[in-house]
This record gives sequence, C-alpha cells and structure tokens, in this order.
Amino acid sequence: MNVLVVGGAGYIGSHCVRQLEAAGHRPVVLDNLVFGHRSAVSAEIPFYDCDLGDPEAVGKILREESIELVMHFAAFAYVGESVTEPRKYYENNFVATLRLLETMLDNGVKKFVFSSTCATYGEPDTLPMVETLPQAPINPYGQTKLDVENCLKAFAHAYGLSFAAFRYFNAAGAAEDGSIGEDHNPETHLIPLVIDAATGRREHIKIFGTDYDTPDGTCLRDYVHVDDLSRAHIAVFDKLNEPGTGCFYNLGTGKPNSVREIIDAVEAVTGLKVPVVEDERRAGDPPALYADSSKAQQELGWKIRYTELKDIIETAWRWHKAHPDGFDD
Ligand SMILES: NC(=O)c1ccc[n+]([C@@H]2O[C@H](COP(=O)([O-])OP(=O)(O)OC[C@H]3O[C@@H](n4cnc5c(N)ncnc54)[C@H](O)[C@@H]3O)[C@@H](O)[C@H]2O)c1
Repeated sequence: MNVLVVGGAGYIGSHCVRQLEAAGHRPVVLDNLVFGHRSAVSAEIPFYDCDLGDPEAVGKILREESIELVMHFAAFAYVGESVTEPRKYYENNFVATLRLLETMLDNGVKKFVFSSTCATYGEPDTLPMVETLPQAPINPYGQTKLDVENCLKAFAHAYGLSFAAFRYFNAAGAAEDGSIGEDHNPETHLIPLVIDAATGRREHIKIFGTDYDTPDGTCLRDYVHVDDLSRAHIAVFDKLNEPGTGCFYNLGTGKPNSVREIIDAVEAVTGLKVPVVEDERRAGDPPALYADSSKAQQELGWKIRYTELKDIIETAWRWHKAHPDGFDD
C-alpha cells in the first residue's frame, strides 16, 4: 500500500517508515522538519519538505504518489509549552490536522491512522487504563489530541473516513541496529535524559517526587518500544477497509516502571553511574500511568516483542553510543 507518513522524519514516524518498508509497503514521507531530521529517512524514500496544513502541496502529493492511507505523527508535544502557548498547539495539532483531513477527503483518500496519547485521559481513577476510561485532559496538548479524536468520529460518521487512533504511552528505545533513534530538541523524555546523565552530557538527572504512593516512591510510567508501536500501525490496516470504521487503541506494555528503575536499568546496561538529584513533585504528574492494551492485542493480533525494560534500554543505548550528538541534520 502507498502510505503517506506525515511527520515521518520524527522519532516515531521514522521508525514506522522502516517497519512499513519491512512489511512490503511503500512509504512516502511528508515533514516540514520543524523538529524532524532529514537523515532519519533513507534517501531512497520519497521525501516532501512541506507543511501538513498546506492543502495545495499535500493534495498534489496525494495524487502524484497515489496515496491510499495517511499516517499522521506530526504534532507539537511539549506539555508545559502547551500550557503557556496554547495557540501554537491548537494551530498545529488541531487546525492543521483538520486541513489535512479535508485535503484527504477532497482527494478521495479515506484511510487514516492517528498518533493520539494517554494524555487524553488526564489523571485516571483506575489502573491499568482501558480505552473506555473517561477522557479529561489536564493540559492543552492532551486536549488538542482529544479534539482530533472527536473530529475523526464525526468525519467517519458523515464522510465514511476509516480511522484508527492509537493512544501511546511512553515511546522508548531505538531501531534494533542502532541506526536511528530518539533525538528531540529539547529532549524531555526520561530514558534519553538518563543516558545523557550517565555519559556526562548532562550534570545529573532530577527525580521529581520521591514520596509518591508507589513501591519506591517515584512515578510509574509505561515504556513501549518504538518498533512495537510502529507495528501496531500496520496491523490495523485490514480494519480500515470498511468505510466509516473508527477504532481507538491504547499502546503500552502494561508493565509500569518507576523513575528509579529506569535509572538502575540505564546504569546496568551502560555500566556507567547516573548522578541523581532529588526534587519536589511537579504539578500535573500523576503517580502512575500504565495501559491495558489487551484490546489492541486481541483485535489486531498486536504482539509486544520488547517486554523487558532492559532490552528497550539496550536499543536506546546502542543508538546514543553510536550517535552521541544525534542526527547530523
Ligand atoms: N514520543 C512519545 O512518547 C509520544 C507519546 C504519546 C504521543 N505521541 C505523539 O506521537 C507523535 C510523534 O511523536 P514523536 O515523539 O515522534 O515526535 P517528533 O517531534 O519526533 O516528530 C514529529 C514530526 O512532525 C513534524 N511536524 C510537526 N509539525 C509539522 C507540520 N505542521 N507539518 C509537517 N511536519 C510537521 C516534525 O518536524 C517532526 O519530524 C506526536 O503526534 C506525539 O504527540 C508521542
């Protein structure tokens, strides 16, 4: 299938491009490189440096590349910034996505796979988190993703769009061969930050809150390997053959790990000491977030290959060791 990967030069998108190729599909990448990296995508793959909210340019790509399905990874994803600059988030994550959907419909492309997030649930009352939990985001980032989810439901009903929205927990790790990996700027994700502290690229890692009601007092999160995430996006293709289908899936391993466990695992994998500074809790950090992803496993036959934290961190370490400065461009 010819698949347009919007945001395909970013962290998760570039790994999904690899998985699409491995599964015999034909990925085409669209990315304005606001955060992505040109060298995260092989030179053989058609690459369009353009904005997803540009209907003329996107329409031309859809037609000329005979696109049958669009995967949409592009977004701004800094939770704190979304609170101070919500306009930017509504514009890029919601308005531009609406333009993209309109352009797809205008060009007869009606299959869509969307990167949503566990942030749409806000602070859950029950764990593990199932898809039917109430969705009450506590920041504009999560709200923009929920707004797109709602828009998708209406478009499926009214226009026969078929879509899958995946609510990711914490994407982690890197390609097995270490050739591509995580390189956000600024980086806010725990595993790359802990690795940087281990290698001396950062002075230390801060633990925000050591008095949570969790086994070791630090927050619990669900780290899912980026290649496992990517494979779910392909496993859902058959579901999208029926016009008007809409489905939502949590993607996480269901095995929570604490901040301290991440630090210990990085030390074990790298053989390096991680300097740690303990700090106060941050507002808006729930003690524990982890998925029940049995729906994806049962309905899509999704299999989690990276079930051990150590294996996920080993892939991340392979990437960071070989590319201490990240991508060249
Ligand atoms: N990384 C995670 O743990 C995580 C967790 C939950 C949800 N998500 C969601 O998954 C998606 C991918 O996350 P990521 O970590 O790969 O992010 P990323 O920043 O690495 O990738 C996003 C890509 O989109 C591109 N982009 C942004 N706005 C664009 C626009 N207007 N036009 C064209 N390209 C544009 C960027 O240049 C970048 O390459 C995001 O939608 C994010 O909200 C990520």
